[in-house]
Amino acid sequence: MTPGELFLPCAAGVEPYLTQEVQALASQTVHPGRGGVAITADATLVMRLNLESRLSQRVLWRVAQGPYRDEHDLYALARTVRWSDWITPRQTLRVDTTARGAPVKSLNFASLRIKDAVCDTLRELAGARPDVDTNDPDLPLVLHLDGELATLYVDTSGVPLFKRGWRDNRAGDAPLKETLAAALLAAAGWRGRAEDGPLFDPCCGAGTIAIEAAQLACDRAPGLQRRFAFERLAPFRAHDGVWRAMQQAARDRIRAAAVPIFAGDVSFRMTDFAQRHAVRAGVEAAIAFKAGDMLQRPPPAERGTMVLNPPYGERLAPKGSGAAPRPAREQAVGAPDMASFFAALAAHWKRHYPGWTGWILSPDAKLPGRMRLKETRRVPLWNGAIECRLFRFDMVAGAMRERPAAPASSDDSQTDTSPAGPA
Ligand SMILES: C[S@@+](CC[C@H](N)C(=O)[O-])C[C@H]1O[C@@H](n2cnc3c(N)ncnc32)[C@H](O)[C@@H]1O
Repeated sequence: MTPGELFLPCAAGVEPYLTQEVQALASQTVHPGRGGVAITADATLVMRLNLESRLSQRVLWRVAQGPYRDEHDLYALARTVRWSDWITPRQTLRVDTTARGAPVKSLNFASLRIKDAVCDTLRELAGARPDVDTNDPDLPLVLHLDGELATLYVDTSGVPLFKRGWRDNRAGDAPLKETLAAALLAAAGWRGRAEDGPLFDPCCGAGTIAIEAAQLACDRAPGLQRRFAFERLAPFRAHDGVWRAMQQAARDRIRAAAVPIFAGDVSFRMTDFAQRHAVRAGVEAAIAFKAGDMLQRPPPAERGTMVLNPPYGERLAPKGSGAAPRPAREQAVGAPDMASFFAALAAHWKRHYPGWTGWILSPDAKLPGRMRLKETRRVPLWNGAIECRLFRFDMVAGAMRERPAAPASSDDSQTDTSPAGPA
């Protein structure tokens, strides 16, 4: 299999961290772009990126690219690929189309034309056409259209990479995607090394941040518990031995965490649920769970790093001693109970958490003002469709970086997108 061009998409804001990650995994030059990174790779690297990347959403292999004006051009573009090199007629396919400023009338019709081209090619070369399977296709294709250029990819991941294989989807309020939890840790510069110190998520929900941190600290590859689309594709079959050896090597290198990780939630049910997730993720020994109200909870260690996404006004109400019950109509961020919750959190941290650094993911640009704390960094990140910032607060003993209760600033001029260096 000759090397090909890959694109690894990620959430907006994650590009610099993904660039660093892919560079380290591939030991070669990576080209950062909008919404992802590009790299040249062979089959072995495709497998490694699927197994090891914590930050990318998929590993896409580019099979065709060209200018287009309409659906006929898309059909012709897809006909340039020898699809019998990828699947047999007994296998299945699905086509997903994404577009930005595309001149086509219907994305569904664009997908249909790509499907027709694959089927026609296989009928000619192998005597029969494959079926479509929208649930679990052998060949997932992604067509991306911009104003003039069409790019067709084979999605070598299949199920998106944030699905690590340990989550029980039956419960859990507003869990973070695993890839975003990994991005928070990357932005915080916390890599699970002894020198990074303890990590604590005091409102852990389903446990995503703590589990991602524990897998990092134990050097457990994020893809060890799942399957990938490439495993069913012809070009990768010749590399089956390499793939098995790669998975075994990843299992063999798992180690005990060198740093303690703490997590808990005001809800006993959620703390229990997170703990069961940690068992499924193989990292229960690395995380100390304890239910509790983060507005009262003493620090679990003398110093360390907190990474959390507290309840958002829009989605979840905070619970606990400092948050009064609120009427249902008070849903907006900044409603009085949210303000008092974050003021109480800041007061608790100032008093009891000197020496700690807190990283809070929030959609509320005015959060530092509400907490009367001056952030030392703010990193723009998107949580799905919600624009957020990851704020860093340093709890310095005796000399708090406190600011007066002036109207909260919405100034984003201190925005920092550069990856944190080693902590
Ligand atoms: C947005 S969710 C966190 C989601 C989590 N990061 C995950 O991936 O599942 C916020 C969590 O904060 C918890 N919470 C609300 N008030 C709290 C408090 N006072 N102390 C601790 N946890 C609290 C909620 O129970 C909820 O599970």
